[in-house]
Amino acid sequence: MDPKTLVDTLAAEHTLPDDAFLALLETDEADALLFAEADRVRRAVYGTDVYLRGLIEFTNFCKNNCYYCGIRRDNHNVSRYRLSEEEILSCCAEGYSLGYRTFVLQGGEDPYYTDERLCGIVSEIRERFPSCAITLSVGEKSRASYQAYFDAGANRYLLRHETADEEHYARLHPASMSLENRKRCLYDLKQIGYQVGAGMMVGSPYQTTENLLCDLRFLEDLRPHMIGIGPYLTHRDTPFRDMPNGSLALTLRLLAILRLMFPRALIPATTALGTIHPQGREMGLRAGANVIMPNLSPKDVRRKYELYENKICTGEEAAECRSCLDRRVEAAGYRTVVSRGDAK
Ligand code: 5AD
Ligand code: FES
Repeated sequence: MDPKTLVDTLAAEHTLPDDAFLALLETDEADALLFAEADRVRRAVYGTDVYLRGLIEFTNFCKNNCYYCGIRRDNHNVSRYRLSEEEILSCCAEGYSLGYRTFVLQGGEDPYYTDERLCGIVSEIRERFPSCAITLSVGEKSRASYQAYFDAGANRYLLRHETADEEHYARLHPASMSLENRKRCLYDLKQIGYQVGAGMMVGSPYQTTENLLCDLRFLEDLRPHMIGIGPYLTHRDTPFRDMPNGSLALTLRLLAILRLMFPRALIPATTALGTIHPQGREMGLRAGANVIMPNLSPKDVRRKYELYENKICTGEEAAECRSCLDRRVEAAGYRTVVSRGDAK
């Protein structure tokens, strides 16, 4: 298929045969068309609206040891922190006054936050901010734990699958972690009734185009409400310290492909995208993304949540990011809205 046929077919069918997906992933010749078509579809479904999620990075303790991640257990150069319930609630209050109607509680897999503690925090946020969506992103748990958080008032859950290929998964994670359990978590979350977010890093070490095709097929099966992708970015204190960063171009191409596959999906222009290029998030919006997740964490802990190097927005106050974002989103041709921003 020529580039135009590839893009037209994807837009019409929301999928492609394996060989066509591989061709589209590997060429830059379809990019201009692909981005234009993705933006047309995003505007047809969501207009120019950009949804905001206030991200609260509430703990950087983690019991896991993922080879790519800067806050992995064996990184002893990290200064570890936890936010108290009061600190988390005051982030929410500040976020609310800045116009955020979704709070994302993200952290490493930190055993200090037992189900009881986490449910206590969720139900307190639910009570104080009844009009807001509560999103959790705290990793792999049992189905019973996910159910407990849901019953306490959580609505959404972010858990990237990272890669849907078994062999590739095993090269990114120690043997204590498995793709099988990761997938089990995602299907459990969906069955319980969460709006679920999955996703992968682009250009992570050893990733092949076939691996990315496998990610697309997995996403077609899971049908998540949200899909978060960003370039892999290296961190000096991980086993992957000498591995190159993922590519901006391939990340943008995948964003557009995902928009055409899932016209109604919530797709963030991620912080990693903004880190690999100063205009990365704006380019992401123009390639089909419709969500931005600004940081609401207290300024003094931001530098400590360093999943990768040179992360943006670590020196800014929440209010500074808010006004900076409005300007950036507008300059890119869209507008931020005060809304929970559920999927259409
Ligand atoms: N580069 C890019 N993204 C990373 N993540 C973790 N480490 C890195 C890295 N070095 C992503 C993972 C995780 C999300 C919270 O951040 O995909 O799910
Ligand atoms: Fe944080 Fe621009 S979004 S400073």
